[in-house]
Amino acid sequence: MSQPIDPRGRVPVTLGTPEGIDEDGIRRLVHGFYDAVQSDEILGPVFAREVEDGRWPEHLAKMCDFWSSVLLKTRRYEGRPLAPHLRLPDLSDAHFERWLTLFAATARRTFEPDPAAVVIAFAERIANSFRLSRALHRGEDTTRLRPIAVA
Ligand code: HEM
Repeated sequence: MSQPIDPRGRVPVTLGTPEGIDEDGIRRLVHGFYDAVQSDEILGPVFAREVEDGRWPEHLAKMCDFWSSVLLKTRRYEGRPLAPHLRLPDLSDAHFERWLTLFAATARRTFEPDPAAVVIAFAERIANSFRLSRALHRGEDTTRLRPIAVA
């Protein structure tokens, strides 16, 4: 029997390892995305402030490990992904919306439509869990938070 599909009709409710994704694709996704981020007017300044010039290779390698662990279940990433997002002082929903928009555009350029939809769905779920944790951490009313979705 086929898996249940999410209410927006795109991807299985339980996300697995999509076909059509390999380490080379993940590398192109991550590098393409952070190229776009660095020249973006909303996100660029945050990353320019937080990631000093010499640390970009380290950040990109970490992000490849992260997405390899999420998408291919390689367990290469052993960090704590939420921590920096709780610490950043000035993140708003505009940042998360732009992040997801750029990420989705890069995923669609990099992968075929079906695997791209799964990659984007993972990013949406993680981004919204960061927003919820961040709001809770800051003592905000989490019960009025509406999810952000780009696809
Ligand atoms: C508002 C949008 C976001 C902003 C501005 C942002 C910014 C940042 C910054 C500044 C860092 C620290 C980089 C460094 O010091 O090396 C970071 C790390 C990271 N981000 Fe984000 N991020 C955002 C959303 C996301 C989302 C949606 C995901 C996952 C889907 C994500 C995954 C990660 C991971 C895995 C790390 C590495 C954490 C570690 O140090 O182990 N970020 N992010």
